[in-house]
Amino acid sequence: MTEETCNEITLVSAEERPDLIPAFDELGAAVWPKFIGGDEIVVKYWNSLFSENLRRHQFLALGIDRHGNEQVLATSNSIPFVWGTPDDDASLPDAGWDAVLADGVHILTQGRKPNALSALAIVVSPAMRGSHLAERLIANMKADAGHHGFQALVAPVRPTRKQAYPLIPFADYMAWTTADGAPFDPWVRKHWQLGARLVKIAPRSMRVSAPLSQWTEWTGLRFPVSGPYHVEGGLAPLIADCENGIGLYEEPNIWMRHRLQNADL
Ligand SMILES: CC(C)(COP(=O)(O)OP(=O)(O)OC[C@H]1O[C@@H](n2cnc3c(N)ncnc32)[C@H](O)[C@@H]1OP(=O)(O)O)[C@@H](O)C(=O)NCCC(=O)NCCS
Repeated sequence: MTEETCNEITLVSAEERPDLIPAFDELGAAVWPKFIGGDEIVVKYWNSLFSENLRRHQFLALGIDRHGNEQVLATSNSIPFVWGTPDDDASLPDAGWDAVLADGVHILTQGRKPNALSALAIVVSPAMRGSHLAERLIANMKADAGHHGFQALVAPVRPTRKQAYPLIPFADYMAWTTADGAPFDPWVRKHWQLGARLVKIAPRSMRVSAPLSQWTEWTGLRFPVSGPYHVEGGLAPLIADCENGIGLYEEPNIWMRHRLQNADL
């Protein structure tokens, strides 16, 4: 796939427009909690997504504003990885997001052939939310997976509303439904409406271990005693260990699997 145009918004890959690679982080910086950038796997491998071999799976939605200037309206990231047993949903890794990003980069260096595509992120600029761009980007990921002959498209989904319910355990939250039986979380529901099924919880999808002083910088909180703390934007508590001066945040996500036309099981 090279390019898709509709309603004057064009999807292009970072391979086609390497000049726009900085826009991924610019858009992301405005929406991700600061501490996400402290995930060791993000630090080590995020930039590899824009290496020669992976940039074809990173997409930007481009529009033209009324002054005729090009604007980046949304971005999507995904990575091919090796899924040993794609007929066994339960074999998706507990380390979710971190696992597929690390695996996807490692297989490149080992010269192994991927058989599945994992979504990693979709960001829509605030002004463009609710305009079906997210849907287009998900559809584009499906097309990308099909185009490259992958057997599956999966996503370790970060439920957007979980942070508003910090007292509810993740598994309980994931079991919530709307009156008509759809998933309660709007972003999980969006994937579900587009044909994805909920597979399993990835309990340690993103892992951030950092000195408490760093956590204070990220969150503005102080940690006078050891124990769990709610941090803004967090889907699970930060566990502060004052004795060792370390804070550990392990973020659960939900693995979802999209239906692919000719390949999915
Ligand atoms: C998640 C995101 C990509 C969805 O884009 P969008 O243009 O809002 O997509 P949609 O309009 O299809 O919204 C899907 C649903 O999520 C809801 N929603 C989106 N973002 C939300 C948020 N931060 N909090 C609560 N609800 C949200 C929308 O209201 C909609 O619900 P509805 O179908 O009941 O109306 C966009 O909100 C975003 O960029 N958020 C920040 C980054 C992020 O969290 N990405 C997802 C994890 S990778």
